[in-house]
Order: sequence, then structure tokens, then C-alpha cells
Amino acid sequence: MKIQNICCLGAGYVGGPTMSVIALKCPEIKVTVVDLNQARIDAWNDENLDNLPVYEPRLAEVVAEARGRNLFFSTDVDAAIDAADMIFIAVNTPTKTYGEGKGMAADLKFVELCARQIARIAKNDKIIVEKSTLPVRTAETLQTILESTGCGVHFEVLSNPEFLAEGTAIEDLFNADRVLIGGKQTPKGKEAIQALVDVYAHWLTPKQILTTNVWSSELSKLTANAFLAQRISSINALSALCEATEANVDEVANAIGTDSRIGPKFLKASVGFGGSCFQKDILNLVYLCRYFNLPEVADYWEQVIILNDYQKSRFAKNIISSLFNTVSDKKITFLGWAFKKDTNDTRESAAIYVADYLIEDGAQIHVYDPKVSEAKIKADMAYLWELKGLTEQKITSKLKQIFVYNTSMAALHQAHAVAVLTEWEEFKTYDWKTIYINMFKPAFVFDGRNILDSEQLTAIGFRVKGIGKG
Ligand code: NAD
Ligand code: UDX
Repeated sequence: MKIQNICCLGAGYVGGPTMSVIALKCPEIKVTVVDLNQARIDAWNDENLDNLPVYEPRLAEVVAEARGRNLFFSTDVDAAIDAADMIFIAVNTPTKTYGEGKGMAADLKFVELCARQIARIAKNDKIIVEKSTLPVRTAETLQTILESTGCGVHFEVLSNPEFLAEGTAIEDLFNADRVLIGGKQTPKGKEAIQALVDVYAHWLTPKQILTTNVWSSELSKLTANAFLAQRISSINALSALCEATEANVDEVANAIGTDSRIGPKFLKASVGFGGSCFQKDILNLVYLCRYFNLPEVADYWEQVIILNDYQKSRFAKNIISSLFNTVSDKKITFLGWAFKKDTNDTRESAAIYVADYLIEDGAQIHVYDPKVSEAKIKADMAYLWELKGLTEQKITSKLKQIFVYNTSMAALHQAHAVAVLTEWEEFKTYDWKTIYINMFKPAFVFDGRNILDSEQLTAIGFRVKGIGKG
């Protein structure tokens, strides 16, 4: 079976970049990305490529080449479903904020709505591809919903989890370590798997394309994220011990990373991992383990999250204790708000939790991030406080403790302390001598990413505290 028309439900951080790359690499396939969010679709269609809703290096050039040729963005979901022979579901699957499984389980309501809509609209056989990260055995639920209308259309459900990381999405898609495709081991299932393999084979080698059964594929995604996050929590746990013993966590990471069995990647100690995936997916894994009555396994993975929360609050507490046990009315400048460099995404960013902690202690938080807007920063804090049950009045009053700037120098002027929350390259290139002159003394730097030259800063006069530096 040769795919001619692809539709993707969800034009977010995954749907947008993945479909743009598929369209670029498969010029004979028409790719339509649809979303319910009109503003998001308008931004994807914006003439000015600086206004795309997702910031990713090289994304604009990919969109520029494919958009209008065989790549389209639309809100006409029904029409796109009707025309497609392969439908990707790339909608959000956040942690549930209500009811059964609140705070742990993945909220599958958006995925379920997609399945119902496909079942209602489809008039001919379709391959449905799970691109969203889903709990193991969701394909079974989807199949049941898709077949519930009894319209005689055949739906073949595949699992094809996405492994791209934000900030390197295009590079990751162009040159994936692997693409994983899970499907039923029936003749129709194998045919559907092959159809999707053929799409990726436009630019990836057979070695890069793995095929498995559906459940292994679904579970591999949660497992991959759990293992990656576990490495960060492991090195962050040891960063606390380094601080207590005058060992240097970067030296320890380097020393163990040269062991080829351990490897050097994902051992960078930090203020704590953020992003829309790690926490959500591990909580989901923990929930699944409890559901299947595996409490020891659940507790094991939950510790990765507990340690990450500890790391974020440890960083905030360290700022308070270093600033003579109070940050009340002090100006603390945050360099960076995004959860990592080269993205405008702030979901679960450590900055949000550190800011909350310091604001509770009376601090004035002054933020500069090259890609995140004032509106987004304030919305992030308001959302957290809403979840915590704060009144509207209290939220409005707390938001007055946050100030956002378009330039770093303005944000840093007359600050008591600087905290590096995101590892943007530009922070390394600043004129730190001038920054020092314009700050209150003693001037503190809390480097939550260990990116600054601490010796040079100390020579200038700063009091520097990195992560895991004794
Ligand atoms: P996102 O929130 O950026 O985008 C999801 C989009 O889906 C939103 O624009 C939303 O409006 C849209 N949507 C919701 N319901 C819809 C419907 N019924 N029809 C059409 N559109 C609908 O989310 P994301 O970051 O792109 O993540 C999507 C999925 O991919 C999640 O399951 C996530 O876990 C997974 N994932 C994300 C990443 C990442 O780096 N962000 C990486 C791998 C996997
Ligand atoms: C992650 C997975 O890497 C990706 O495969 C999956 O598809 C989605 O989830 P992402 O969250 O976009 O990707 O970025 P990632 O590079 O994994 O970073 C996640 C967080 O961990 C960031 O806050 C980052 O700063 C932090 N991190 C990463 C560290 O603190 N130390 C490290 O060594 C690596």
C-alpha cells in the first residue's frame, strides 16, 4: 500500500516539526496538519516565518520549502480526516488534573476525541498512527472506539512514538537514532507497518527503522524517557553529595562517562529537568505500575521525580540561605525561563518552581529569556498558582513580583543576585565585569546549569555557586 495523503491531528511541538520533515522528504505525499486552535494554525501559516508557533533551529527553512507545495496547515479537521489514508494523532496527553488518577495518569480525553471524530468521518479504510505518548495498551482502546460505529471501515492502529528532543527537533528527525513502529502481527497489520516504514525510508536507512508489536512500542517510549530522566536525577543526587564533600560534579560525570558502559550523555547536573515529557511520562509509568499492582516498581520510578523536585527546591533554598536568609524585596535576576536552550517551550521549566519558591519568600524576580515572552512567563506562574488553589486576588498580587525584560542588561541592573536557569549560549558571552559593577554587593551568581566560567567570575568579585561544586 502506497501512502498518498497524510493527516496529522495536533499542530504542536511534535505534530508541526515531524509533519514538516515528512512533507519535505516525501514531496509526492500531501501532508495536512490540523488543529482546533485557530491562532496556532494562523501562526503556522504566517508569511513571516519568525512567527511560527514553535521555535526550533532550522524549522523555518523546512517549512519555507514544503509549505504550500505538499504541506498544509488547517482547522478543517473533518476534511483532512476524510481525505487521508494515514492519520497521525499528535495531540497533547497531559497529566490529569482532576478525578481518578489526578496528578499521575495521562489525560487521554484529547486522544479519545480524535478517535471518535475519525470514526464519525471516515468512509474508507485508514491507518491510524499513535504519535502522542500513550500508556501501554491504549491502541486497544482506540481500536474499540474506532470500530464502535460499525460502519464497515477497517482501521489499522500503529504505534509510532516520537523521540525528538526540543531544541534539536529537526536534527533529530533528519538523523534519528531510530524510528520505532509497532503494529499487529496480522497480514493487515504487517501491511500497515510496511506502509509507514516506506514513508520513513525516504530518508532513513533500514537499520534506523525498528518494528515491534504494538505494546512493546507503546511501552518503549515511556521507558526511554524514564531512563533518560533517571540519569539526570542520579547525577543531580550526587551533585548534593559533591557540594558537601568538595568534589566537583562535572569532573565526576566526566570520569564515569568515559566508561563506555555508562557513556557521557545526559549526565549534566542541573537545577532539575523540565519539559513537557519527563515528569508526565514517569508519573504515567508510576500510575500504570500501581494499576498493575507493582508497588515496588512504582516506588522505584517515582523516586526520579521526588529527587527532581528536591533539586529544584534545593537550588531555591541555597539562594535564600546565601543571601543571608532572606530574599524579601531583593532583586533576583533569572537568566533563562525556557526548560532548555534553543526552544521557546516553558512547560515544567525548573524556572517556574524556583520562582514560586523565591516569590513566597518575598523576592522580586526579574527575568530575561531570548525566546519567551512576558505573557507566557506570567501565564506559567498564574497556572501554577491556580493549580495550588490560590485566589485570583492573591495571584494578581503575586504577579506584581515578576518583571520581564527584552534585554539582559536591563534585567541585571542593580540586582542582588543572578540565577542561570537555562543554558542559552549567549549568557556565556556577556560582559560580566560591567554586570558586576552595576549590581549590589556582595554580588551573587547561582549557576543552575554550570555554564559560566566560575574562576573568571570569582576573579571579577562575584560570589559564585554552581551545581555540585564543593
Ligand atoms: P502540544 O500541546 O504542543 O500540541 C498538541 C496540539 O494538539 C495542540 O495544539 C492542541 O490544540 C491540539 N489538539 C488537541 N486536541 C485536538 C483535536 N481533537 N484535534 C486536533 N488538534 C487537537 O503537544 P506536543 O508537545 O506536540 O505533544 C504531543 C504529544 O507528543 C504528547 O503526547 C507528548 O507527550 C508527545 N511528545 C512530545 C514531545 C515534545 O518534545 N514536546 C516529544 C515526544 C513526544
Ligand atoms: C525528552 C527526550 O530527550 C526526547 O527523546 C523525548 O522525545 C521528549 O522528552 P526534551 O524534554 O525535549 O526531550 O529535552 P531533553 O533534552 O531530554 O531535556 C529535558 C530536560 O532535562 C531539560 O530541562 C534539560 O535541561 C534537562 N537535562 C538534560 C539535564 O538537566 N541534564 C542533562 O544531562 C540532559
